[in-house]
Amino acid sequence: MKTDEQLKQIVKETYGNIANQSKEQNETSCCGATGCGTIDEAIMAEDYEKLSGYVKDADLGLGCGLPTEYAQIKEGDTVVDLGSGAGNDAFVARAVTGGSGKVIGVDFTEKMIDKARTNAEKLGLNNVEFRFGDIENIPITADAADVVVSNCVMNLVPNKQRAFEETFRILKKGGHFSISDIVLVGDLPKALQESAEMYAGCVSGAIQKDEYLNIIKEAGFTNIKLQKEKKIELPKEIVSDYLSKEELENYHKGNLGIFSITVYAEKQEKEACCEPGCCN
Ligand SMILES: C[S@@+](CC[C@H](N)C(=O)[O-])C[C@H]1O[C@@H](n2cnc3c(N)ncnc32)[C@H](O)[C@@H]1O
Repeated sequence: MKTDEQLKQIVKETYGNIANQSKEQNETSCCGATGCGTIDEAIMAEDYEKLSGYVKDADLGLGCGLPTEYAQIKEGDTVVDLGSGAGNDAFVARAVTGGSGKVIGVDFTEKMIDKARTNAEKLGLNNVEFRFGDIENIPITADAADVVVSNCVMNLVPNKQRAFEETFRILKKGGHFSISDIVLVGDLPKALQESAEMYAGCVSGAIQKDEYLNIIKEAGFTNIKLQKEKKIELPKEIVSDYLSKEELENYHKGNLGIFSITVYAEKQEKEACCEPGCCN
């Protein structure tokens, strides 16, 4: 059993290597950062190319949704992108906030931060910033963000409760998030769970959908809504590396599912009522 720090190290190494690859390399090879057997991240990625603000060099094909499309970002907003990678969602968010807003990407893989900063410099944008840091301890002051987005990242964070508590802390009262991520329905076969390669490929670190939504509630969020839900069909040749024939049949029967979801939730404007008479 790996410790949280060991899991984070695997994730950092994996995404450090992926940062050096183009989207095309990620798409055309299963022999990516960690060698053959790694999930091709592009299986889950959505097509960004038509979105305003899209930057090709920032698109490594690592997402599993389009959170910025659901996040109701407004001009002038401060938006935080958790696990910003090369800046794919940050630049799309910047196209909506405009020059009067601000976008802050946070990532703990140095090569991703370097790549994102290079992309921002090339665009000459002075209100898109990339900060090095861990989502379990976000390097942003409390009550700073109007909107938080994140794309296919929380599943990689070992302490998801802490990550959502941190998300709650940095949001302004009345702020909200739209987060795309991978969740499970049913028991994932052990062989998949135990694979560190699969972990970095956004599957083995994913938790049950109900548990995920409950963590969000426990962190203090209200008005929690599923904005999108899509079953991820993994190619047979990839799952067959990890499963016996019998397990494979069960997998395809659908008792078990890997889903891409986009979740919305709010940090409510008013403090929760805690004292007698405080709601008057
Ligand atoms: C699947 S990639 C997604 C990147 C980006 N959101 C995109 O869609 O292109 C996951 C990213 O999350 C970052 N990440 C994972 N766990 C993190 C953590 N605990 N703190 C900060 N960044 C993290 C990784 O370094 C990587 O850049």
